[in-house]
Amino acid sequence: MSIHLGDIAPDFSADTTQGPINFHEWIKDSWVLLFSHPADFTPVCTTELGKTALLAGDFAKRGVKAIAISVDDLDSHNQWVPDIEEVNNVKVNFPIIADPEKKVALLYDMIHPNASEKATVRSVFIIGPDKKIKLTLTYPASTGRNFTEILRVIDSLQLTANYQVATPADWKNGEDVIITPAVSNEDAVAKFPKGFTTVKPYLRKTPQPNL
Ligand code: BEZ
Repeated sequence: MSIHLGDIAPDFSADTTQGPINFHEWIKDSWVLLFSHPADFTPVCTTELGKTALLAGDFAKRGVKAIAISVDDLDSHNQWVPDIEEVNNVKVNFPIIADPEKKVALLYDMIHPNASEKATVRSVFIIGPDKKIKLTLTYPASTGRNFTEILRVIDSLQLTANYQVATPADWKNGEDVIITPAVSNEDAVAKFPKGFTTVKPYLRKTPQPNL
């Protein structure tokens, strides 16, 4: 099943390293980072899950809960976690979904048979508190993800959820943003009291409104 932006994140029940969950109940009203890795006891995955744990404060600050998944079973996850903790000198503080029957992996289209018949690729889903899919990314097994980019896009998503703005190429938290074309110049004066610059009639920049 392919998953599109704006879809409700498919619900499921599964065992995790923090006990059984129902996904929608677990989301509650948080933002969520759901990300798959190809296999336990592999080098790139060990760095990625460690990085996620190291960024716990950055995710918490943004109201984001992280949850990982692979098609390994719970015993395997539980045996691997001490390695992740030792290598990255951090406590793994988020759940890892056990999916040996590939139920969740197939539900979220995380298995790309021409890449690997058996293992999940490196999928990323960012899900909003409304349980809708806000972003998808797919990386191959050989490339570890850029977690600075994951935090950056969460900042953009959370900003654009609250204001009628978009973020330009390479935008980072704190930099100027773009007023969406749907806002008239008259409305922009009221909505963006810090003012705006008209680069083109369709490209108007304003200081980040939530700072
Ligand atoms: C890794 O996590 O290192 C990895 C996993 C599967 C294939 C290649 C690399």
